[in-house]
Amino acid sequence: MLVRMHARGIMKAFSIEELRRAAQRRLPRAVFDFIDGGAEDEGTLRGNRAAFERIRLLPRVLVDVSSIDTETSILGKTARLPIAIAPTGAVGFGWRGGDIAIAKAAAALGIPYSLSMLATAAIERIAREAPGRLWFQAYFLKQRDHTLGLIERARAAGYEALIVTADVPVGGKRERDYRNDFALPFRYTARNLLDFASRPAWALPMLFKGIPVMENLTGLAADAESAAALASSVARNNDAALDWEVLKQVRDRWPGKMLVKGILRADDAERAVALGCEGVIVSNHGGRQLDGAVSSLDALPAIVRAVGGKASVLMDGGVRRGSDVVKALACGAEAAMIGRATLYGVCAAGQPGAQRALEILSDELVRCMQLCGVRRIGDIGPELLFR
Ligand code: FNR
Repeated sequence: MLVRMHARGIMKAFSIEELRRAAQRRLPRAVFDFIDGGAEDEGTLRGNRAAFERIRLLPRVLVDVSSIDTETSILGKTARLPIAIAPTGAVGFGWRGGDIAIAKAAAALGIPYSLSMLATAAIERIAREAPGRLWFQAYFLKQRDHTLGLIERARAAGYEALIVTADVPVGGKRERDYRNDFALPFRYTARNLLDFASRPAWALPMLFKGIPVMENLTGLAADAESAAALASSVARNNDAALDWEVLKQVRDRWPGKMLVKGILRADDAERAVALGCEGVIVSNHGGRQLDGAVSSLDALPAIVRAVGGKASVLMDGGVRRGSDVVKALACGAEAAMIGRATLYGVCAAGQPGAQRALEILSDELVRCMQLCGVRRIGDIGPELLFR
């Protein structure tokens, strides 16, 4: 009943920002801030948006734009939009079954979905329930065998690509989480119990059905049952020694396409490509890791130049409008990835919310292309940018 109400209300959201506010109304502060927040002073988080706002488009007029084609190629395969879903962990905290909801929304639209190793849905469950273009994202833990085992499971389940996230040698300092007692290990403090109680639509399913589990991590910490307890074990066990040598070993074992995520330097991108990766994801982790890092959009052109067409260059960070996708493509990206945009949607209203987020971005993309005088994705290039 509550779910249906959320789903109906969500059709009245006309922008990702409105979905964000709807998620904020439904979620306890600690959970909303976990999703919404960034590291330290959140300068890089704001910088991702500021970069999109700084760039201006130079539209072409008097072009017949009565028919627009948004189909494109991402990582060598057709996608209906130049958009892919970025990996996000712990989504079940925001909406039970949220990972599957986003994966289904992506499959319905014919765009790739990346499953985080820290998701609240198992590799095989996503493959079964949301068959589409699936990419698996791995973090490296001190228990390297656990990550390698998951990569093998992703291969067996038919995942198309492997993403290795390289920008988390240690966790970023996310002060909103500390302030909200969301710091791991998860603690039930008076403050967050009050916070949870203030959002019954979120709290009641958690109370009756239990806190979700990071299904890909079970077995990692035998005594850790909740997502939070497992997450804390991941935070403690993150492998700060991950380096190019390890990446090469993974490359040698993974038969499919491989991408490195968290690249901001041209020389790192060149190295990943030289090592045999088919793609790089220009990303600062949505401003959640190194505060002070360059915005993804500003880092993009130099990386595109360095890669020189030898591999796919994707980007993420701050994409909230269809015009942002056009700007990312005009700066040379093959596709834009989205993290929070679909998270806000799913946390506001489950699968219809995730679908709504994608619908908003897709409608805005088509309108932006029409207003810019471009009919096909391949026509979006640097000449659309005002310098
Ligand atoms: C993330 N991100 C992320 N990245 C990753 O490689 N593995 C992960 O498990 C997660 N988890 C995660 C959780 C949450 C709540 C957020 C918001 C982000 C980063 C994500 O893939 C992506 O880089 C950013 O979200 C992109 O920025 P926008 O689109 O959120 O602005």
